[in-house]
Formats: sequence, structure tokens, C-alpha cells
Amino acid sequence: MVKATSKDQRDRRVLELYDKVLEIEQRLIPTGLHVFGRAADKSEIADLLSMVAAFDRPELGVSSLPDLVAAGLGVPAYKVLLNESANSEERLHQRESVESVVRDVIERFVDDPSDAGREAAIDLLLKSAAVPVEEARRVFELLSGIREQLKTNHELDGLSRALRGEYIEPGPGADIIQNPSILPTGRNTHAVNPYSVPSVPALRRAEPVAEALIERHRREAGSYPETIAMVLWGIDNIKTEGEAVAQVLWLLGVTPRRDSMNRATDVDVIPLERLGRPRIDIVMTVSGIFRDLFGATMTLLDNAVRKVAALEEPHEMNFLKRHVDEQIAETSCSFDEAAVRVFSNAAGNYGTNVNFMVLDSQWEDSRELGDLFVTRKCFAYGRDSQGQRFDGREARRLLERALSRVEVTYQNIDTTEVGITDVDHYFEYLGGVSKAVEKQTGARPRIYLSDTLSPGAKIRTLEETVRLETRTKTLNPKWFEGMLRHGFSGVAEIEHHVTNTFGWSATAEAVDDWVYDEVAATYVLDEPMLERLRSLNPHSARTLVGRLLEASGRGFWSAEQSVLDRLREAFDALEDTLEGVRIEG
Ligand code: BEZ
Ligand code: MG
Repeated sequence: MVKATSKDQRDRRVLELYDKVLEIEQRLIPTGLHVFGRAADKSEIADLLSMVAAFDRPELGVSSLPDLVAAGLGVPAYKVLLNESANSEERLHQRESVESVVRDVIERFVDDPSDAGREAAIDLLLKSAAVPVEEARRVFELLSGIREQLKTNHELDGLSRALRGEYIEPGPGADIIQNPSILPTGRNTHAVNPYSVPSVPALRRAEPVAEALIERHRREAGSYPETIAMVLWGIDNIKTEGEAVAQVLWLLGVTPRRDSMNRATDVDVIPLERLGRPRIDIVMTVSGIFRDLFGATMTLLDNAVRKVAALEEPHEMNFLKRHVDEQIAETSCSFDEAAVRVFSNAAGNYGTNVNFMVLDSQWEDSRELGDLFVTRKCFAYGRDSQGQRFDGREARRLLERALSRVEVTYQNIDTTEVGITDVDHYFEYLGGVSKAVEKQTGARPRIYLSDTLSPGAKIRTLEETVRLETRTKTLNPKWFEGMLRHGFSGVAEIEHHVTNTFGWSATAEAVDDWVYDEVAATYVLDEPMLERLRSLNPHSARTLVGRLLEASGRGFWSAEQSVLDRLREAFDALEDTLEGVRIEG
């Protein structure tokens, strides 16, 4: 805790803290596992509709509800309020007024699903925030359609028709907030046409995020990042129609060019005068799923890199060109070799295996984790100057060289449902590439994640994201009680969160001591809780306790001796339970 030395500083600190509390409170989290075939309840619908309403949708002629309210109240745009509320009491009050109107109006709307309810919500918007009726009606037409479709879940029906071999209507696979046309549920979800990626909305959403990433680095490091290593996943880019792909293009300073069939097959260079900043060098480590789904996009990205690297521009405004020229001069390699930036697994292979190494505790030195990442991901994809494809050619030296310049590693989080401690894939990828960079450069890169689900293009450090996930999920009674209602699987889910959190220690040393202290206090030192875990799922309970001991044993957590003693006792007792030697009673 920073010691406040003046009233001003104290007030500022309180404001920052309050802003953090709001961030935690407003974070959408899944409260329990999805039950196949079960429709969302009223409070889930209200949360979803608030999120859907928080975005501008020019393609539907719908403006963001918080922005309409902000304009009606005569205060700055909601994005501005979000960005400035941690530093200004006035902005904080304005933000709270906007959020309070939005909350009341959505509540009114959800409470009464009739037309009269919708009119009452529109009327409330007019009276409390002078939002023009026409604008409000467009928002609520969109929300009414979504609410209607959320009322019934068609998953079971779809499954039984599929099992009978009947036709299932296709529908896009996406996140409901980004693309409400995924409804109704229970359809045969299809992916995207890779030639349409990145879509126009994806490009529009990607620009402020790419700029926010650069800005965050400038604020913290005092300079532009010259090289960013970025993780690209397939499913994310399906859901967002290529937001991450669009971010790469913005960072390079190019935009997609579409041919007469509306296929993005080439790029146009944004002139430096218009870009107003240097072009950033991007090293892409791409999942096997992305490689399989987005062949055309891999070619587009490789084209973009080669085009930017060949521009006649000064090195200080084109970091990619600088690095390619330097590599050619230093190693006498060809342009084709120096310009490789798209890496994935060998053909037919998937994943980094870094997660398995961590889950099975099969490592001594964390550099092994970075090495494994490189071994799995050092296959180059693209075309050479003669137009010959070299997809899947092993290029370990080139990947290591590219990683040796990286200052920032980065990945998007684009859904409220899966965060960085829900699954082991974020730490295997983003953690894995960060470890690989550390080995090449001798220093841990700055690690950032975007949160493209919050209006206002939020970029967080990995440490901030781990804290937020811990507070909103792992340590949040609303979250863990939701999980415990699912019995055996719920305990497994809790254990996975602890293990995935540990994965961020193993790959990036990004977990504060208090996280482990509180996890131990919540799940192990609390006897009744430990007993619940033990009786529901002793296997996962043992793994959870073992993982805490491992965190301490590997030096990621300096725990009190008495806590460690208690953990060991609990671990031994759980082992006895599993081996059947424990006498109950
Ligand atoms: C993907 O969508 O590319 C992906 C999903 C989960 C784990 C790894 C990759
Ligand atoms: Mg497990």
C-alpha cells in the first residue's frame, strides 16, 4: 500500500481504488457451468443485454446505449468517462450517472417483456436522460429480438434432430455480444469464410485496441514497442471475424484490399503521414486451428509483412524494415528468410504442450517451457519471392531470431466466458511465447492482454489480468458457489483455476503472493470448505492442495510456515482418503 502524504494524494488513491472496485464489480463472469438445453434466466439475460447494448452497431443503425445516455445527459462520451474516472471525481460521478440510467432502463425492459414494457423503457430513457425516442427505439428493437430468441434454448431439439439424421439449419459461430445473429441456439454452427477476414466491423473495432496497446507501452516504457509477439487463435478470429488479424494489420500500418468478389487478398499501405507513428514489427505465433481454418489469412498476413518490409522508408519509422535489413546485413540471409513472421506447428500438429509439461510438473528450469514452445511452433508459413509456398518448413533459427527482438507479448481476450485462468491454453500460448522471448533476450517481455469486450479498448498487463480473474472468479463466492452446485465437476473447475493460475507463475512469474495466500485460506484453511471439496471430489481437492505446495516449493509463493504445515497435513489426509486408509469419523 502506498503511504499517502497529502490530502490530494490520498483522494487520488481512494479514487483509483474505487475505480478498481467498480472494474471488479462490473466484470461479467459465468456463474456455473452451462447446462445443455437450459435457457438463460432473467438476471443472465439482463447482463447480456447490457453488454450487447454497450456497443455501437453502425451496420444495424444502432448506437451504444451508454453513449446515447451520456449525450442526453450532456457529459463526455462513455469511453472518455471510463478512461478518466480513475483520475477525476467529476468523471466518476458522470460515469456513475450514466451507468445508473442504463441499469434502471435495462431492468425495466427485462421486468416486463410485453410491448408496454419496451415503451416504458423508452419513456424512462427520454425522461431520465433525454434520449431521443427514435434512437432508443432502435436499441430496444435489437434487444427485443435477442430477448425473444434467448427465451427458448433449442440445443436439445437440435441435437435430437441431428441424431435422427435430419437437417439442421446453419448459423454463425460467434460470441453473442459481438454478433447477436448467432441466435437462435441449437443450429449447426459454421465458421467463417476466411477470405472475408478481417470484416469491416472487425477492422473498425481493432484500430482503437491496437492504438491503446501502443499507448500503454509508450506510457510504461517511454517508447514505441519495436517488436510485438502476438498469439493468434482460430476460434477467436471466427467469433470476431478477425479482430486479432485486423490488429496485426493496423500495427503494421496497412489495410486489407478487397477484390471484385469482396475477398481480402492483398493490403494497401497506409502512408506514414496518415499513420502518424512507426510501423511495428509483429511476430505471429499461430495456433494449429488457426492454420487449418485461415490459410488465406496466413497468406494475407505474410503478404502484408513482406510488403511493409520492402517499403522505402526510414528505419526509425518502419521497425520491421529495420529488423529485416539488419538481419540480412548481419547474417547474409535472403530477404525471404529475414521476413518470415508467421509461425505455427508442423503440418498436422496442434498446441505447444507447455500446458502438459506444467500440469504434469515435468520441468526443472522454466527455460524448458520456452524451449518446448519454440520446438512446437517453429514452422514457417508463407510464400517466397518467387511465389512458392513454404508452408510448414522448420525454421527454428528464424523464430529464435525474431523472438530475440521482442519487447511485448500480447493476446486478445474476446469473450466473457473464457478467461486466462479458465483454461490452460492461455498460459501455454502467451506464457509459452513469453518464456521463449525471455530465453532469447535475457529479460521478461511486457505481457499485455486486450479486453475487447469492454467498451473503451482496455489493455491490461498480465499481472492485472491475473488479479482481476482471481478476484472475480477464483476467490469470488458467487463464482465458486456456482461451481460447487455442480458437485464433482465444479470442484474440478475450481482446481483447474488454481492450476491455470499456477501456470502463470511457471511461465511468467505473474502471480502475487496474496493470490496463493487467499486461495489457501479460502479452500484449504477453511475446514468446512475443505470438507466440501473432499466429499465432492477428493482427486481435484488433492491436486489443488498439491499445486499450492508446488507453488511454494518452486519459489513462486513465500507462504507462512504454519500455512505450509497445514497444507501438507491436508494433502496427506486427502491421499489417505484416496488410498482408502483414512478412518472416517
Ligand atoms: C484456437 O482457437 O485456435 C485455439 C483454441 C483453444 C486452444 C488453442 C487454440
Ligand atoms: Mg486438472
